[in-house]
Amino acid sequence: MNTSTAVAPVITAANESLRRDFPLKPFAIRHKLAGHPLLMLPRIAQLASELPRDLIEYNSGKVAISQDPDAIPSVDLDPVDVVRQIETAGAWMVLKRIENSVEYRKLLEDTLLSVARARGFNSLADAGFEQLEGFLFVSSPNSTTPFHLDSEDNFFVQIHGEKFFTIYDNSDRAIVDDAEIERSMTKHRNLKFDERFASRGQEFHLFGGDGCYVPYQWPHWVRTADSHSISMAITWKTRDVRRLNDLHFFNSMLRGIGLPQKPPGKQPALDTLKLAFYRTVTTAIKPLRASMGMRKVLRRIALGKKANYYLKDA
Ligand SMILES: [Fe+2]
Repeated sequence: MNTSTAVAPVITAANESLRRDFPLKPFAIRHKLAGHPLLMLPRIAQLASELPRDLIEYNSGKVAISQDPDAIPSVDLDPVDVVRQIETAGAWMVLKRIENSVEYRKLLEDTLLSVARARGFNSLADAGFEQLEGFLFVSSPNSTTPFHLDSEDNFFVQIHGEKFFTIYDNSDRAIVDDAEIERSMTKHRNLKFDERFASRGQEFHLFGGDGCYVPYQWPHWVRTADSHSISMAITWKTRDVRRLNDLHFFNSMLRGIGLPQKPPGKQPALDTLKLAFYRTVTTAIKPLRASMGMRKVLRRIALGKKANYYLKDA
C-alpha cells in the first residue's frame, strides 16, 4: 500500500479518545461511511450472492439477550432474499470476512489508515492493525444480537438505522470467567447475561454516521430500534491478540481430549511451548482450508460436533 498520500479522516473521536482510551476502553466515534455505495442494500445483496455459504450467518431477530444457542429461531429465506426483504423479514444477518472482496478490503484499509494517521503512524502495520477482517450486519427492526464477545478489536460503524450497542467491562472476569470466554470463542459465542451486571454496561445510541470502539473480548449485546439497520465491524488482530487467541483455541482442543488447561498468562513458559506446537500444526494444514468441505471437517474436528451450527445442511 502507498502510505505517502494524504488520507482524509474517515473515523474521528471526541476528547482525544483515539489517543487516551484506545485500545483499552470503549468510546464513541463518528465516521463518513454512511451512504457509501458498498454499504447499501443492493450491493450487500450482491455480496450475499457471491460469498461462500459458510461466511453467511442469519436467523430470526426475535431472540433473547441471554439466548440459548440450541434454540435460535431460523428464517426460511435464502441469504439474498433476507437482504432484499430486511425491512420486513424479522431477521438478523452477518456477512463475514468481506475483506476477501477487493473493493471492501480497500474500504476497510482506508478507514483504518485514517485511524493510524490520527494516532501518529504512517501505515497500518506501524499502528499494529494486522489481519484486517470486515463483517457486515443487516437486521430488521426490533432485532436483538444476544450477549456475546468477539476475539478482536473492532471499530463498529452504524451505516443506517437506529441501534443500541451496550458494552460491559469484564476486566475482573466477574461477568464472564476464563472458562466461559474460551467456550464462547470455540463453541458458540452467546453468553449468559445476568441482570445484576446491567449497571456495568456502557450504552452507545447509534444512528448512521455514529459508531463505537469495542475492545478485545469486552462482552456486548445489541438491539435495533424501529428501523432496519446496516452496520459494519471493522476488525483487526494485533500480535498479542493473535497469541492469546491461538492459546485459547489450543487449550480448548486439549481440554476436549481430557487435558485440563490454565488460561493464557498463568504459565508463560508452557504457553510458549504450546503456541509453537499449535502454530506448526495449523500452518501445515492451512492449504486444506481453501475448500469449504474441508473447512467444515476441520471445524468439526477442532471445535466439536456443533461447530457448523449455522449451515443448514451441517
Ligand atoms: Fe460482537
